[in-house]
Amino acid sequence: MTQKKLDGLKFTWWAPSNIALVKYWGKKVGHQLPANPSVSLTLSTAKTRVSLSVVKSVETTEDTPWIDLYFAGQQMPSFIPKIEKFFKYASGELPFLNDYKFLLKTENTFPHSAGIASSASSMAALALNLIELEQVEKGVEYSKEEFLKRASFIARMGSGSACRSLYPFAASWGESDNFGSDLWAEPVDCHPIFKSMYDSIVVVNSAEKKVSSRAGHGLMDEHFYGKARYHHALTNWNYSIGWLKEGAWDNLGNLVEEEALSLHAMMMTSRPGYLLMEPQTITAIQLVREYRYRTGVPIYFTLDAGPNLHLLYPQDVRAEVQKFLEDLKKDLGANVTIIDDKIGTGPYKEDGL
Ligand code: DP6
Repeated sequence: MTQKKLDGLKFTWWAPSNIALVKYWGKKVGHQLPANPSVSLTLSTAKTRVSLSVVKSVETTEDTPWIDLYFAGQQMPSFIPKIEKFFKYASGELPFLNDYKFLLKTENTFPHSAGIASSASSMAALALNLIELEQVEKGVEYSKEEFLKRASFIARMGSGSACRSLYPFAASWGESDNFGSDLWAEPVDCHPIFKSMYDSIVVVNSAEKKVSSRAGHGLMDEHFYGKARYHHALTNWNYSIGWLKEGAWDNLGNLVEEEALSLHAMMMTSRPGYLLMEPQTITAIQLVREYRYRTGVPIYFTLDAGPNLHLLYPQDVRAEVQKFLEDLKKDLGANVTIIDDKIGTGPYKEDGL
């Protein structure tokens, strides 16, 4: 049997998580495409390392599985079905996936159970590795821009929000009248204030979500407020793109809070409805707002599909916010932890390989 082109190759990429300012919630029915455009900030500390090795061509071995996966040094068969589903989907674009067997080694900088979604960072890092393989397979070298766009296109197939994790600082995903594509995300112009912004993630509960994002998106298909929500999100997206460029943080911060609550309102009013916020989430929201109104410190919250808060604030108020966070932790109780993150420069390939 002749050796195949990719046998023995190994690549390693790191990709960060991202936090949406305008939320992706709801898909074009039956497709892995967003019902509205979304925009996010790229994080820095919360990231995933994925190394992908091509073990052997399928023809040369019978008994090894298609995909073998280690997470933090432990074999993790429970993670494999999601990756297999992704590889099957992506093989429409990357047919070589069917011709090889793969070994994936992955780890996060944050605890797996920290309540921070790792699907965005892990799918983004995995997609970058796949595009490395594609270059070898096709004998091409993409420009940096093309490479990231192609990785974003593939990452979307694994998890929609992952396609925004490919770019420094800020990214937008989804079609609007005058910008963007549903197929991949693109970088967005942003003012220097956002490039040095902090995100303190208040983890009130690190347990696995009661309802997966995938199921939540599905409930939007028949949602009574679905159309109104998509219109609202598109309007908010348009404002956000302008305010990101201008550095209008107070305007954007208020919109970001509205988006977070709108996302959770959709969950609460789905059929069946569900509630992911916890009592400490509400307490934290009230304390953040009360602090902002009292001091004028521009700290704003957002939420993903879970109970934990992302507190966003500019670098110049870092010292006072640190004091506020210490008090907040005391008010919320002993089980609350805060992960210190900031806006970052996007994914990178590990050196020395
Ligand atoms: C609330 O990207 O996790 O974080 O495409 O089904 O994998 P799938 O969904 P996913 O949804 C993320 C939803 C969100 C908002 C956002 O990141 O825009």
